[in-house]
Amino acid sequence: MNTKDSVLKILINSEEYISGEGMSKALGISRAAINTAVKVLKTQGYEIDSVTNKGYKLLNSPDILSTGEICAYLSDTRAQDVIVLDSVDSTNDYLKDLASKGASKGTVVIADQQTKGKGRRGRAFASPSGCGIYLSYLMRPDTGLENISEITSWTAVAITDAIKKAYGIDTNIKWVNDILLDKLKICGILTELSIEGETGRIDSIVIGIGINVNEDSFPKELQGIATSLAIQTKTKYRRAILAAKLIEELDRLAAGWPSAKEYYLGSYKAKNITTGRKLKVFRIMDGEDEGRDAEAIDINPDFSLKVRFTDGTTEDLTGGEVRVRGISGYA
Ligand code: BTN
Repeated sequence: MNTKDSVLKILINSEEYISGEGMSKALGISRAAINTAVKVLKTQGYEIDSVTNKGYKLLNSPDILSTGEICAYLSDTRAQDVIVLDSVDSTNDYLKDLASKGASKGTVVIADQQTKGKGRRGRAFASPSGCGIYLSYLMRPDTGLENISEITSWTAVAITDAIKKAYGIDTNIKWVNDILLDKLKICGILTELSIEGETGRIDSIVIGIGINVNEDSFPKELQGIATSLAIQTKTKYRRAILAAKLIEELDRLAAGWPSAKEYYLGSYKAKNITTGRKLKVFRIMDGEDEGRDAEAIDINPDFSLKVRFTDGTTEDLTGGEVRVRGISGYA
């Protein structure tokens, strides 16, 4: 971490005034370097009070995604594997590249902006600067391929837990892995897997998460589909707090894979708003088919969706085969 980020971390975690000398001792750098860091932070919009003989106190922080901001809420050891970027093509692609060069499990890449954010099924994921969280997390499980597609559903649970812990907001899950607030999408997940050709072993799993936090509006084509936490709650949030909580929840997920299934399945079922609803089911392989009317009955233990079609037949659907939409609206 650079000096500015280290100073910021101390200021964020100090409830009282902290002297320049105290910081200089803690960080092993000169008083002049501390003064310079404080000046730079002020130019970035941090409101820092300085009082002779008392020191510095952080009064107000802007919403900036920086290493200092995010790592202020994490232990120093955890922070070592968190890479924060201003702008990148795609955090998933950046992390996949690091993974192929041997990055350790738990490595995280976060960006303030993506220029080529990727969504599911080859779609683009709009990732403007200053409002969202674009985060990728590296898993290297020792397990085989069985049940691996369930990781995305576990991740949906981890995200709802992180949002609740960071901001106190309850969100829901639309099958298979969209996070909703007031029946509109606030988050998407794209999980990418790399398998060793010779052995069929999992080399790496990159879980990519895009959360709409502080967006004020969305393009016309996304109206009635997407929203942000800020639009729905009429409040602006500090993204760093949620980013840190997400990292904690993803660490919990990775440590619990696959033994903690009971928790993730139970929580997924409790938070899902798909069961009990009338839906249109679209076969992904069929391209733009018209969809078939069905009623969602249950989430199965493998996170597939049990539906009953209007002719009375039932089927278990997987996220790879179909997508579903509400009869009148996105959910
Ligand atoms: C979807 O809903 O279609 C999935 C969207 C996933 C977006 C995230 S943002 C961070 C990571 N990097 C990417 O390029 N995509 C994922």
